[in-house]
Amino acid sequence: LVAGVDSSTQSCKVLIVDAGTGHIVRVGKAAHPDGSEIAPAHWWSALQDAIHDAGGLADVAAVSVAGQQHGMVLLDTEGRVLRDALLWNDTRSAGAAADLITEIGAAELAQRCGSVPVASLTITKVRWVRDHEPAIAARVAAVALPHDWLSWRLRGYGPADQSPLGSDLEQLTTDRSDASGTGYWSPHTGSYDLDLFRAAFGRTARVAGSAEHAGTHIVLPKVAAPSDITGTVHSDLFVGAAAVTVKVGAGAGDNAAGALGLGAASGDVVISVGTSGTVFAVSAHPSADATGTIAGFADASGAYLPIAVTLNAARILSTTAGLLGIDFEEFATLALAAQPGSAGVVLVPYFEGERTPNLPDATASFHGLSITSTTRENIARASIEGMLCGLAGGLDAIKASGTAVERVLLIGGAVQNTAVQIVAGQVFDALVVVPTPGEYVARGAAAQAAWLLTGTRPDWALETIAAPPADYRPEILGQYRAVAGAA
Ligand code: XUL
Repeated sequence: LVAGVDSSTQSCKVLIVDAGTGHIVRVGKAAHPDGSEIAPAHWWSALQDAIHDAGGLADVAAVSVAGQQHGMVLLDTEGRVLRDALLWNDTRSAGAAADLITEIGAAELAQRCGSVPVASLTITKVRWVRDHEPAIAARVAAVALPHDWLSWRLRGYGPADQSPLGSDLEQLTTDRSDASGTGYWSPHTGSYDLDLFRAAFGRTARVAGSAEHAGTHIVLPKVAAPSDITGTVHSDLFVGAAAVTVKVGAGAGDNAAGALGLGAASGDVVISVGTSGTVFAVSAHPSADATGTIAGFADASGAYLPIAVTLNAARILSTTAGLLGIDFEEFATLALAAQPGSAGVVLVPYFEGERTPNLPDATASFHGLSITSTTRENIARASIEGMLCGLAGGLDAIKASGTAVERVLLIGGAVQNTAVQIVAGQVFDALVVVPTPGEYVARGAAAQAAWLLTGTRPDWALETIAAPPADYRPEILGQYRAVAGAA
């Protein structure tokens, strides 16, 4: 058996699966406080609770931890967390992102690290701390990401009074997918851009385990390969009296782990409709989009993960369904009673501003409302079309970055809605497949754990529920584009 962990923004989930087939044997879950700034100790207690909830690790051979990307965990020389972590959804460092772009240039940043920084990326957060919390900045001895810090704790490291192996910062590890979301690690070269880190933070850094100038340089986690064993779960934790060794893998960022859990390969694009919408592909080539639409991350298997993130996704539907005073089932029935194109009614769905396209101050609007077109049916369908056309923008940008798209894997709670599936088949110019609902991030982490046992990436079957019929209607996207472009 192997275990996969998904430490997300809201909770921690653990899957214990059969390493050969990927079948789930046990599951565990624990919630922790949500938000955009949080004490990492909450993730650690949720991880322990979720592992206990899953029945422990005594019969497990390997574990990997996937986590929310970008969160900044600052450690002092004693391995103590210096301040609450600033997460991917914390926007206070938008000004720092703008400053870095002015100082270095968008094209050069994209070329050096794959991405033009937005407030989500760690590089902007370390700059913000330098500028706003100099007393804390001066005490920083290491900068880690959520999954790096959790894996380190799992292996027995942490503050001396809380961890059996003490605070050895040289033992910090990360993986290429999460490292690529920092903004100071290059998917092109497969190494940190230490000059860029220094330009952002004003202090020099080095990679964990490299001895030169120890003590003066900030430690960045060593980047382990997808099948590397980074250590073992410390025996005081989770395994009880049984003398077992549980190997710990490199872990991954949640999007890359999701790709692994879905078995996504070249030609696949994953579109995840959650609180935010993510559109990402597995690509053989690194990307460098100077417009910032596509962030050029690395994946967790040795390839690349171009990604576009929209801020408006599932909540578009709950907002409109709420407005119509109906539940999701009735919403689907109404939407399917309208014709494709919603008789010209278009929702431009920027209820929360937007990140892709980059319109942080935009608002949502309905267009094309006439006496005859203003029906509940058209409003319901236009909401789904607007949500999916917004995501189609990310899909097109991924195609434009040179990645071939053959199949869309559509995941997330909202895509269980039949109307969403049918409209997806009309808006996306690709074969759309809806996998059976599941914890794909934790499954991806478990797949990595299985990989480090056998040395080969597992090929677990992906179960899908019926794919919507291919029924591409380019006029829906054309109508949306004409309106959204002018709005
Ligand atoms: C990716 C991103 C989010 C987080 C969510 O750039 O910001 O998808 O990884 O956990």
